[in-house]
Amino acid sequence: MHNPVDLVDLASRYWQSAALNAAVSLGIFDLLATGAASAEDLAEKLDCSVLHLQALLDSLCGLEVLGKAGNQYRIPDDLQPLLDPASPDSLLAALKFNGDLFALWMRLPDCVRTGKPALPDNPHLGKDPERMKRFVEGMHSRAGIMARGVLPYLVFPENTRWLDVGGGPGTFSLKLLEQDESFRATVLDLPPVVAAAADIHAGKAALDRLTFQGGDYHTAEFPSDQDVVLYCGALHQEPEEDIHALFRKMCAALKPGGHLYVIDLMLDPDRTTPVYSALFQINMMLMRPTSRVYTVERLEALLNETGFTDCYTQHIEGTPYTMVRATPER
Ligand SMILES: C[S@@+](CC[C@H](N)C(=O)[O-])C[C@H]1O[C@@H](n2cnc3c(N)ncnc32)[C@H](O)[C@@H]1O
Repeated sequence: MHNPVDLVDLASRYWQSAALNAAVSLGIFDLLATGAASAEDLAEKLDCSVLHLQALLDSLCGLEVLGKAGNQYRIPDDLQPLLDPASPDSLLAALKFNGDLFALWMRLPDCVRTGKPALPDNPHLGKDPERMKRFVEGMHSRAGIMARGVLPYLVFPENTRWLDVGGGPGTFSLKLLEQDESFRATVLDLPPVVAAAADIHAGKAALDRLTFQGGDYHTAEFPSDQDVVLYCGALHQEPEEDIHALFRKMCAALKPGGHLYVIDLMLDPDRTTPVYSALFQINMMLMRPTSRVYTVERLEALLNETGFTDCYTQHIEGTPYTMVRATPER
């Protein structure tokens, strides 16, 4: 980037995120999901200033998040499943949770200066039940979309038993269980998260093959004789000093010939790219100072130091994730 105009553009790019977050927070998509509407109609229903709402709607059209025909605004067909709160593929919960983190970025200079997070550790698991609900629903909504890229890499034979460590509300596990009635899974996550998962999946038939275990994965006892251990989207929370013991526990939980799958954002060797992974590390540090996005090389080394061998690494197309699969040494 050597053009001064590009630098100005970069400096202002947060306007785009702010516009999208405002639309989510105001409930614009919830209303437009049922059909096109004018700025006047929307302003009345949302109790907003017509002039200001129109400015926001027009900007969202420029960003191609909305479309406009005459004075009618609508959600484009390809975004409808993602922005309709009633759709099974809705990303709205993930966007809402993302909006919760927006204000943290304003405190980045302090965070960098002091090495302290902008909020207490795990703010979304604290005393605010609404925030926690947004966190768990946000994870579920995001994982639902990521599953399209991730699941084709998780192809298991009949009767596979797996442990999903830090499995959140178990979104990946449940989708995998739905593929084969002989599969069984345990999802281990912190007690408030697994408690919230029950509501999210209520009525799903595959639930009777899924055990939720509430606990801290550093201290909880893992079930033994697993064919597979999944560790998705959670490695970046852990500093190196905590990983050795965790990986050894995972190794001990696996049958000979079993597999550990670590799926997460990872960095290239010089830690500057992919830029999304580099920025994601900051996003995490704003909440948890010990967060670390690993390079593939360091992760493979950590696996080799903790009883694993045969690391196979693959970027997961269509997602920001990389997968590293490893097997316990015989
Ligand atoms: C980003 S989420 C990933 C969830 C899920 N695996 C996925 O990929 O969609 C990370 C999960 O790790 C869980 N977690 C963090 N620290 C944990 C710990 N010490 N013990 C158990 N779960 C933990 C969080 O509650 C959260 O559900």
